[in-house]
Amino acid sequence: MSVEPLLSRDYDANPGLVHERLRSKYGTVAPVDLLGVPVWFVLGYEEVLRVLQNTGGIWSKHVDRWRAYVEGRIPADWPLLPVFQINNSAFQEGAAQRQLRAAWTKALAPFQDHANPQAQLLEKAIVRYADDLIGVLSEGGSAGWADLAAQYARPLPLMVANRLLGIGAARGEDVVMDIWRMIDAGPDAAAAFERLYAAMTELAAAKRERPGDDLTSYMIEAKPDFTLDELARELLMLPGLLDFTASLVCNVVVEVISNPAVRESLSVGAIDETVNRVALLNPPMANLTFRFPMTDVKLGDYTVAAGDPVMLSVAAAHADPRFAGAIDHHAIRSTRAHLAWSVGPHSCLGQRLATQITTIAVRRLFDRCAKIKLALPADQLPWRPSPFMRALRSLPVQYELAESRVPVPPGVDVPATQPAPAREAAGEPPASRSPLWSFLRGLRRGR
Ligand code: HEM
Repeated sequence: MSVEPLLSRDYDANPGLVHERLRSKYGTVAPVDLLGVPVWFVLGYEEVLRVLQNTGGIWSKHVDRWRAYVEGRIPADWPLLPVFQINNSAFQEGAAQRQLRAAWTKALAPFQDHANPQAQLLEKAIVRYADDLIGVLSEGGSAGWADLAAQYARPLPLMVANRLLGIGAARGEDVVMDIWRMIDAGPDAAAAFERLYAAMTELAAAKRERPGDDLTSYMIEAKPDFTLDELARELLMLPGLLDFTASLVCNVVVEVISNPAVRESLSVGAIDETVNRVALLNPPMANLTFRFPMTDVKLGDYTVAAGDPVMLSVAAAHADPRFAGAIDHHAIRSTRAHLAWSVGPHSCLGQRLATQITTIAVRRLFDRCAKIKLALPADQLPWRPSPFMRALRSLPVQYELAESRVPVPPGVDVPATQPAPAREAAGEPPASRSPLWSFLRGLRRGR
């Protein structure tokens, strides 16, 4: 069957229109071409839900279940191959996956359970990072232009990633820069990946010697038989997941700017609700990495053969008329029955953390700015081309800071709450000299 390529300019500009065209032509499951590889693209809410729940255990995410891959029919330079070959918990199944998932759950708990001091320190750190970034972007004056994607939403979660991982500040900055190179898949992406893998292996070894109060050490504590290689591959998931968080921050900021009712009542509850609505209308992880059925299975109007790649589209499922048609758009709270965090054996383990980062980032931005206006009409904002994520390439705004700086809540955590000199004394490079800060300063535009 000859099929159309999924990715195109049309798809980057408006994936929803492409989804509707595929839905009207094929129904809930469409055969598509993904960068030269034939894939089943699932658009129906019920079908996506059924595969995610995986009752009966017929679906696998393991690349060795991919028939064309095992038979050597996927070119070695297929651009998405490294994603599937990483072989961490997101691509495993059965007992191995359950053990890794248990380690993640245990290691993330201290940061996600608000009664825990680690979670409280992290919250203060996130507030401080947000304030520091707003400080840098507004160094040129109390009003001006900024790209909130590059100067705020993307660095913030990566600063959180460094802190979670327990990377020293000086090394952490190199890691942040390499993460960008890797995620943006530019010419230096492969070298950046190699350096990151080496940095994560080194970090895993160092934390095994001298554990700290960080995610890396908690992972080792939860699963002492982790090999360095295994742990490094797990840790490499984090930057990508935090970049999805960055895209959620951008999408929520656009929603708040464009919706005066939300803007007027920016209580924590209202932001939480906006995060949920944005996750529903514009899920950051728009399409999921492949699943492979282990036996032939009927899906939509087709029989999918064992070992065929199946890509679930959360974004298309949310727009499925059988789901979207039943949503009450006037309801005060939007439905939680969406799939933005997935469900079933591979569902997201960091939902609370991602929501917390997003909520703080948005609240801090709108607390500190008296005015924020999109510099482009919302429907002309540029999107990053990607088979998996729906993220803005840039978010240009005009801002005006509020007259008085909103005071930062006091705290005891050095990187999070002390003024810059104290953080420098604690081993953090002076902001003025650090490569990350120089990079961010380079992005500043005139007034
Ligand atoms: C807005 C940000 C995020 C979104 C939209 C998101 C969404 C998702 C989704 C949809 C999956 C399932 C993928 C699949 O089934 O193929 C997933 C898996 C996962 N997420 Fe998140 N996530 C986000 C941020 C985070 C963060 C910040 C963390 C941890 C700090 C995290 C931890 C995980 C883990 C460990 C898995 C793998 C679970 C498994 O395979 O068993 N996520 N996430």
